[in-house]
Amino acid sequence: MPLSIRQIHPTFVGEVTGVDLSKPLTPEAVAAIEAGMDRYAVLVFHTQLITDEQQMVFTRNFGAIEDARGGNVTKAEDKRLVVGMNDVSNLGKDGKPLSRDSRQRLFNIGNMLWHSDSSFRAIPAKYSLLSARVVNKTGGNTEFADMRAAYDVLDDATKHAIENLVCEHSLMYSRGSLGFLEYSDEEKAMFKPVRQRLVRTHPVTGRKSLYLSSHAGTILGMPVPEARMLLKDLTEHATQPQFVYIHRWSLHDLVIWDNRQTMHRVRRYDDTQPRDMRRTTVAGTAPTVAQEAAE
Ligand code: OGA
Ligand code: MN
Repeated sequence: MPLSIRQIHPTFVGEVTGVDLSKPLTPEAVAAIEAGMDRYAVLVFHTQLITDEQQMVFTRNFGAIEDARGGNVTKAEDKRLVVGMNDVSNLGKDGKPLSRDSRQRLFNIGNMLWHSDSSFRAIPAKYSLLSARVVNKTGGNTEFADMRAAYDVLDDATKHAIENLVCEHSLMYSRGSLGFLEYSDEEKAMFKPVRQRLVRTHPVTGRKSLYLSSHAGTILGMPVPEARMLLKDLTEHATQPQFVYIHRWSLHDLVIWDNRQTMHRVRRYDDTQPRDMRRTTVAGTAPTVAQEAAE
């Protein structure tokens, strides 16, 4: 069966059939998936039984795997997965759900806020690929918002006002908004704010999108409360139901999203039961502003 993509939401998201991600792909299949990503921004693949190694091999078809350092508070010796895999499960190294007061767990709760992966890095992520290895029975849907469709319907005055704005993003802003406020000196250095344009243009399609994320905490040249209110307002706009696709996970689903055109969040789930989700991330290639990082 040849690879085919069927759109499953009015503005974005394609469901892909006719491909086995555990096997090496032909250049034509890789090109079809990349073209599908440009067009649909999110692609859903069902029943893909893959190992971590196969997930990493598949991921490298789209670029280099992002260096995960600086993106979490998990100490190297506590990591459950090999380098190259992002652990977005609720599990510790012993394979059991993390305790309620685990710092790692509390930090990861931030994934329930709307965000774009690695917007806290000077060069933010291109794609994320998330594989469901154990599905949680109660909750844990992942929601995606189409930031191009949300941009397109802004009124001209708003488009004009935000066109050249630059935000500062940091994990300390997203986690701080949930009351996670204590960081070691090393973490403070690691989570130093970086600058990102508020409106970005897709390098292939030329489409503009709102580049929002819970990591955004300030806008250059704007008083902080005014900036935060504008970001909240735009986020509320962009996450209205008509721009959102809700993914209800089945075992061995794999979902790829383009962080340059979408935001996502995971919804609450039963944290006493396992939810094993493993992400690989394709590194981006350029900053969204000329500066690499905020001073
Ligand atoms: C991620 C993320 C959502 C989820 O992997 O980047 O935000 O459903 N995860 O676990
Ligand atoms: Mn994420």
